Amino acid sequence: MEKIDMKPDFVFSPQPMYIIGTRNEDETPNFCIITWIGFSFDKTPHLMMTIGGSKQTKTNILRENMFSANLISEDNLWLADYFGTTRAEDKIKNDIAYNFNWGKYLNVPVLEQSKWVYECEVSRVIELDGAHLFLADIKNIQIDKNLIGMDLEMIDLNKLKPAIYAPYNYFSVGERIGGCGEWKYNLLNNNEEQETIKVRAN
Ligand SMILES: Cc1cc2nc3c(=O)[nH]c(=O)nc-3n(C[C@H](O)[C@H](O)[C@H](O)COP(=O)(O)O)c2cc1C
Repeated sequence: MEKIDMKPDFVFSPQPMYIIGTRNEDETPNFCIITWIGFSFDKTPHLMMTIGGSKQTKTNILRENMFSANLISEDNLWLADYFGTTRAEDKIKNDIAYNFNWGKYLNVPVLEQSKWVYECEVSRVIELDGAHLFLADIKNIQIDKNLIGMDLEMIDLNKLKPAIYAPYNYFSVGERIGGCGEWKYNLLNNNEEQETIKVRAN
């Protein structure tokens, strides 16, 4: 396959999106979108997140050391878009109605309209050249009660319907195309009856 080059830029990658919930100094909630997010594991599950420039969300996290990460799905996308394109340093984000609760493990606002939420406690902050990289311990995962039966080995994206960001556009995900470790059925034309293979990453 012949490749062409693209110059790396400010936005560069397709990824799921999260609404980050933080607590303001006056104990009101604040939400914004962050897409520079990844996940990691070191004894416990961690979230890695980069926030650039000056933002209320960053100020709140540096003060409180905690935040919620609320998965953006097709049904809360436009609320998320509002949070991500309105700066709390300029105005209170109260043009659109939404509901929230405080976290079960941490004092972070959890968006009622999100089906999949991480409650995160910051364990390390790395100051970069204008941006801050936050490493955070995931203390709890809240999922919509209607998703009961779903577990961490089968997160059904057809039910969660996450929105995928490919700068500057939003997409939905398609059908499940297979399971981890099923390469031999797909690459070797192996006609054996398929068994369910569970592969654990170490
Ligand atoms: C789709 C989308 C993705 C974004 N991703 C990031 C990101 O990864 N990092 C970041 O610092 N800002 C990101 N932003 C910008 C913030 O969400 C935006 O500056 C927001 O207004 C900050 O809210 P705040 O003032 O409440 O902190 C994104 C915005 C949008 C619309």
